[in-house]
Amino acid sequence: MIRVNNLTKIFYDKKRGKIKAVHDISFHCKKGQIFGFLGLNGAGKTTTLRILATILKPTSGEVLVNGYQVVKEAHKVRQSIGFLSGETGLYDRFTPRETIMFFGRINGLAEQEIQKRMSQIFQTLDMNSFQEVRVDKLSTGMKQKLSIARAIIHNPPVLIFDEPTVGLDVITAKVVIDYIKEFRNNGKCIIFSTHQMHEAEKLCDEIAIIHHGEFLASGTLPDLKRNFQGENLEEIFFKLVSTKVEDSI
Ligand SMILES: Nc1ncnc2c1ncn2[C@@H]1O[C@H](COP(=O)(O)OP(=O)(O)O)[C@@H](O)[C@H]1O
Ligand SMILES: [Mg+2]
Repeated sequence: MIRVNNLTKIFYDKKRGKIKAVHDISFHCKKGQIFGFLGLNGAGKTTTLRILATILKPTSGEVLVNGYQVVKEAHKVRQSIGFLSGETGLYDRFTPRETIMFFGRINGLAEQEIQKRMSQIFQTLDMNSFQEVRVDKLSTGMKQKLSIARAIIHNPPVLIFDEPTVGLDVITAKVVIDYIKEFRNNGKCIIFSTHQMHEAEKLCDEIAIIHHGEFLASGTLPDLKRNFQGENLEEIFFKLVSTKVEDSI
C-alpha cells in the first residue's frame, strides 16, 4: 500500500543553510498494518508524512501510495489518503456538520453517502453533542475529532496521521487511539507519527525510530527488543539516540 525507497528531503534555508530533514529512508506498510514513526521534535516525521500526502516534493527517492507515485500521480494519491496534521485547517464559522458536508462534497460523495458516513463517524467519535456548535467555540479535543472525521469522510484506504493525540486529554486520546485500531481491523494502511514511546508501543505493528532525518532502527517491537537488547521501547530509543550523540561529538 505504501512503499518508500531511499527517500531524501533537503531544505535550503537562508539562515541555517542546507537542512537534511529526511535522509535516505526506506520502508513499506501493508493493508491492516500500523507503521509508526517515533522521533523527537525536528526528527523529520512531519516532513516525511507531508511528502506521502503530496504536500511536499521529495528531493530524491521513490514514494508509492496505493500504487501511485506521489509526484506524477498526486491527484490519485490524494484520493487514496486521509491526512491529519496539526495544521489541518478548519473553518471557524462552520459547525462540524457543515464542515463534514463541505469536505464530503469536495471529495465527490453523494449527499446520502455523506449523511450516512457522518452519522457513523460522529457516533464512534462521540461528537453528537457538539455537531451544531461553531468550530471557533470547540475545545482542542473536539477540533481534533473533527479533523479526524474530515480526514476520513471519503473512506480512504490509506491514513496518514501526524501526531494525532498531541495536546489531547487522556480520554480523548484513548478515543482516537481506539479508532485508529478499528481502522487497522478494517484493513486500512496507517502511517502514524508520535514522540510518545508508550503510544508507539501499544499501537504499532512496525516502528521506525527516526533521528536527525535518519532511521536508527525499524521493525516490530520484538525485533527491536531482540536486536538492541532493550526491555522496552523507551530503553531502546535512548540507547540508540545516545549512541548517535556520542558518534557526533
Ligand atoms: N519548510 C521548511 N523549511 C526549512 N526547514 C524545514 C522546513 N520544514 C521542516 N524543516 C526542518 O526539517 C527538520 C525536520 O522537521 P520536521 O519534519 O517538522 O520534524 P518533526 O515533525 O519530527 O518534529 C527540522 O530541522 C525542521 O526545522
Ligand atoms: Mg512534526
